[in-house]
Amino acid sequence: MKAWRVHTFGEPRDVLVLEEVPEPDGAYLEGMTMGLGGWEPMSAGREPFTDWVVLAMSHAALALPDVTIARGTYPVPVGRPYIVGQEGVGTVVDAAPGRRDVLGKPVAAVCIQPWGSLAPVSVGVSTVFEVPDGMSDVDAAGFLIPGHTAYHAAIRRGGITAGETVVVLGAGGGVGSAMVQLAVAHGARVIAVVGGAEKVAFCQSLGAEVVDHQAVDVVEGVRALTDSQGVDVVLDPVQGEVASRIRAVLRPDGRHVLCGHAGGLQAHDPDFYLYNHTLVGATLGSYPRHEMRRLTEETHAALVGLVADGRYRSTVTRCVTFDQVPDALTDLAARRTMGRVVVDVRT
Ligand SMILES: NC(=O)c1ccc[n+]([C@@H]2O[C@H](COP(=O)([O-])OP(=O)(O)OC[C@H]3O[C@@H](n4cnc5c(N)ncnc54)[C@H](OP(=O)(O)O)[C@@H]3O)[C@@H](O)[C@H]2O)c1
Repeated sequence: MKAWRVHTFGEPRDVLVLEEVPEPDGAYLEGMTMGLGGWEPMSAGREPFTDWVVLAMSHAALALPDVTIARGTYPVPVGRPYIVGQEGVGTVVDAAPGRRDVLGKPVAAVCIQPWGSLAPVSVGVSTVFEVPDGMSDVDAAGFLIPGHTAYHAAIRRGGITAGETVVVLGAGGGVGSAMVQLAVAHGARVIAVVGGAEKVAFCQSLGAEVVDHQAVDVVEGVRALTDSQGVDVVLDPVQGEVASRIRAVLRPDGRHVLCGHAGGLQAHDPDFYLYNHTLVGATLGSYPRHEMRRLTEETHAALVGLVADGRYRSTVTRCVTFDQVPDALTDLAARRTMGRVVVDVRT
């Protein structure tokens, strides 16, 4: 099969190659285990990884980790070569014994390197769910990671409750736009921080007030909207320079939820304790497998319920062809995309 692979380190446009790769199959996967950076060959003392499905792919989503993994700036090292892409939709053509219930069905799934989703055949791991009723393949391809990350960060770890005021950084992105919707759905007043008029309109359509960082200073903009009262929570998939300044608008007892690093990782001021602030880490991982599975199922049920009620939607804004992947990732890295960009793998 032809898949988008990376062998070296650099910008997606320079390092992605479309090349012939053997298809993954069940017999091969039975000899593998899962490490922090993805699939690994079994070794002494390790458990085989048995929570997989093989997928004939229909659509795959692009996301910032596809850029940072290629550059080598993702916090977890990923071995080379690998197939790009972390999630998508496909039909299950083979499954580990514990996942045979979905054989033959269309599912949305998270894919882990080297078996990324930008290939005709990929491997879904652990987070594998039937496509929700009435959802298109395009929408379902970009549904899982933004929704699950956002729910874990904003609701479970961030503990957002009705009546709180919440700032969302990077709010026009995949994870950001999901957090905006979930905070609104839970009764919060949401201030979305974005760059540019198109993202302003996008976040307003999701129910947020907006600060455009290309037009005003972020801290001044949030102060103006809150009558200098500040906010209860900052949801932050960006960090970088803005993270060091945004706590100026966080009230005492406020939570700064760190769930990404689009603007780069930076050390945090150790003086946050002087303001009775709490730094909260949020990531889809690190729990023991049985606990992760329980959390994933709980999250998915909550998201599907919100979709059914019309209070949450997949924010896919663009669908591109398979040969357009390097250009689309260049746009994503340059902050020219909104929500999720999805690829029709069959084109
Ligand atoms: N914790 C987890 O489990 C988890 C899961 C998935 C993703 N993530 C992380 O979440 C972050 C966001 O991922 P995503 O896929 O949602 O990204 P995305 O769609 O590209 O959105 C990121 C947003 O951040 C803003 N941004 C600020 N500085 C940036 C910079 N230097 N480069 C690019 N964007 C910048 C951009 O908004 P403006 O241009 O409007 O400022 C952009 O819309 C990534 O760091 C990713 O690794 C974490």
